[in-house]
Amino acid sequence: MRESLTAITEELRRLKQAGVTTVSVTEETLERLRRVVGQRAAASAPARPASPSLPVAAPPAPVPERMRETTRTVPPVAPATEPLRTPPEVRLPGGSKPERWAALKALVEGDPSCRAHLRPGKRVVLGVGSLDAALMFVGEAPGAEEEIQGEPFVGPAGQLLTRMIVAMGVAREEVYIGNIMNWRPGLPTAEGQEQVGNRPPTAGELAYCLPFLRAQVEVVAPRFLVALGATAAQGLLGAGAFKTLGEVRGRWHDFGGIPLMVTYHPSYILREPTPRRKRLIWEDLLQVMERAGLPVSDRQRGYFLER
Ligand code: URA
Repeated sequence: MRESLTAITEELRRLKQAGVTTVSVTEETLERLRRVVGQRAAASAPARPASPSLPVAAPPAPVPERMRETTRTVPPVAPATEPLRTPPEVRLPGGSKPERWAALKALVEGDPSCRAHLRPGKRVVLGVGSLDAALMFVGEAPGAEEEIQGEPFVGPAGQLLTRMIVAMGVAREEVYIGNIMNWRPGLPTAEGQEQVGNRPPTAGELAYCLPFLRAQVEVVAPRFLVALGATAAQGLLGAGAFKTLGEVRGRWHDFGGIPLMVTYHPSYILREPTPRRKRLIWEDLLQVMERAGLPVSDRQRGYFLER
């Protein structure tokens, strides 16, 4: 714990010395920081009441002022910092869904730009789940856990996403889960150090990976898409489609003829696990359940109403 904090502090100091005055931090990173910073305070903090099905995260702890997320309501695309190749033109072969998906996986894993952005021992991440899924969830980018395991949403936000899906009465394996990005957006670290935080993708990174996401949508052909957070919404709706997530969340949109619901990223709950925040996401998911014809019990309809 102390080592992580030291690494973050050193990295911030180094960036400051290099002339960097602001740092953009993803919600997942903030959550990790809170966990680290909050562990000491947690022993004395009162436990929060459990909710029907979504977990209660560690109590929020103060985050250093300069690390506070300031770009979350504005689609968080930073200027590109490194040249990327032209976004790939993905042409999938014919065949069955598993054959086409396997071809896509080989393509993405072998893609020179994807590989060039990996640190040693880390993995390119493609979506997972049922290729016959009616529901496809789209997140932002792999984080620390995801780039190790090569699977999206396996860290804290992923565990929460899984609970959200289960609360809808569906198993994780029945849906398809992907990301806008196929690699973990890099941050500079000292030689030989592990990357500690995350950052939102640049516009160039987002544009580069989008064809891979489109190809996954083409293979799976879900009936409904759910964009998790501003970056996913921006990737699917287009840059400049909105200024604040509030403008588009909780409403139906269209992605190539597929109804698309925009909601918050699970990290929005991890940051502040209040019934109000859970209810906001839950209301969006209720809309998805209703439109998808999933059964909705009175109990499910009432989740997180205690504000
Ligand atoms: N957050 C995301 O948006 N995607 C992941 O795969 C993990 C965390």
